[in-house]
Amino acid sequence: MASSAAVTVRAPVLHAPAQDHLQFLPDALIEVGADGRIERVAAAETADLTRPTTVLPRGRVLVPGFVDLHVHAPQWPQLGTALDVPLERWLQEYTFPLEASYRDEAFAARVWDELVPGLLAEGTTTAVYYATVHRAATRSLAEACVRHGQRAFVGRVAMDHPDATPPDYRDASAAAGIEASAASIEDVRTVDAGRGLVRPVITPRFAPACTDALLSGLGDLAAATGALVQTHCSESDWHHGYAIERFGRRDLEALAEFGLVRPHTVLAHATKLPDEDLDAVARSGACIAHCPLSNVSFGNGVFPARRALARGVRVGLGTDIAGGAHSSVLRNAAMALDVSRLLDDGVHGAPGERGGVAGSRLDATTAFWLATRGGAEAVGLDVGCFEPGRPFDAVALDLTSLPTPTVDRDHADLDAELLAERIVRLAGARNVETVWVAGRCVRSAGSSVPSGR
Ligand code: GUN
Ligand code: FE
Repeated sequence: MASSAAVTVRAPVLHAPAQDHLQFLPDALIEVGADGRIERVAAAETADLTRPTTVLPRGRVLVPGFVDLHVHAPQWPQLGTALDVPLERWLQEYTFPLEASYRDEAFAARVWDELVPGLLAEGTTTAVYYATVHRAATRSLAEACVRHGQRAFVGRVAMDHPDATPPDYRDASAAAGIEASAASIEDVRTVDAGRGLVRPVITPRFAPACTDALLSGLGDLAAATGALVQTHCSESDWHHGYAIERFGRRDLEALAEFGLVRPHTVLAHATKLPDEDLDAVARSGACIAHCPLSNVSFGNGVFPARRALARGVRVGLGTDIAGGAHSSVLRNAAMALDVSRLLDDGVHGAPGERGGVAGSRLDATTAFWLATRGGAEAVGLDVGCFEPGRPFDAVALDLTSLPTPTVDRDHADLDAELLAERIVRLAGARNVETVWVAGRCVRSAGSSVPSGR
């Protein structure tokens, strides 16, 4: 079993307890109890010297683990490739054939055993996963999360619409899809076995792939089980227009009528929502997974993250592996900053004619918060910052290998916001040295720590 039990870590600590509040503690001590929860965060000079303490070497900074709100686990083998066609063709030509191959349980298990450690190596301590339509592959993804010690939501994909899905990769009927989804919730709860690490999520893929009967049955299942829901919402012009044509209303309104827009429901992308819909999302308590890298390929636009946050919408970040071409939450945080600048200024033409939307810029503190506490809060988890009572999900970053000017290699005279900006824009997997989830060290110095559980 990987090291659990009480740990105390001494390090410089950077975290964002709120969207506009970054805190840097240059020499802090975090005491974690045997239950994996933080007991105390204090300045190091108040150390209880009787406790064994992990002192991080010079040049390291401890940050909260990253939260990825949108990952298609079976698309891992095509990460970084196959983005040359729009969403509706990409699904049919590349993605459904790949996902169908997870009927082979041995193949599925092999991929999960690369994917989960691969994401931990990026510092992703929480992932919200779409698995496939297969119950067995979904269950084995949950098992892989437990085995490697990653916090996760794991969802069996439900899809039954004969017009938008291939015959060899869909639920046989709405009733079969609802039944398999209900059984999969139980599978995931059984695999978690009360650890509180891995949870089920009801996963209607998106409206075009689901009949009305499936969508409403899954809305009922959500109400009956209290399980989280995730789906895609108005991801692209095509997806947005499809909903209006089929339902006579926008995608969000249709999903809400099916009972799928609930507190903490994860709506992926939502690039096309008018303010009226953003307000409805805010009222519902659902959240939006902002996937800026994926939006470049499929989104036909930039999600207005700052506007959504200002209207009270819960927002976090998603890689959208493999519609997004990289597995790093930090890279998506940097991308969120960059695309918000493009949205603000517009992209082509004379000033005033570029289509910019003034007031759209995100700041580095918000980007850092989205990658950590914002994402956690969006799905109702109490991780994402360092406070007593919260589970200790953390990443030690080795900043000595950042590609920064040698003149301030120590990062010592940076203020908190500059340090957050440097981490968001420049850090990646090569800087991730140690990863803890619920107080357990699950990855250390470039190698994973198998739990044997
Ligand atoms: N819409 C329906 N399925 C998918 C998917 O797998 N990826 C993305 N980005 N959008 C989708
Ligand atoms: Fe997606």
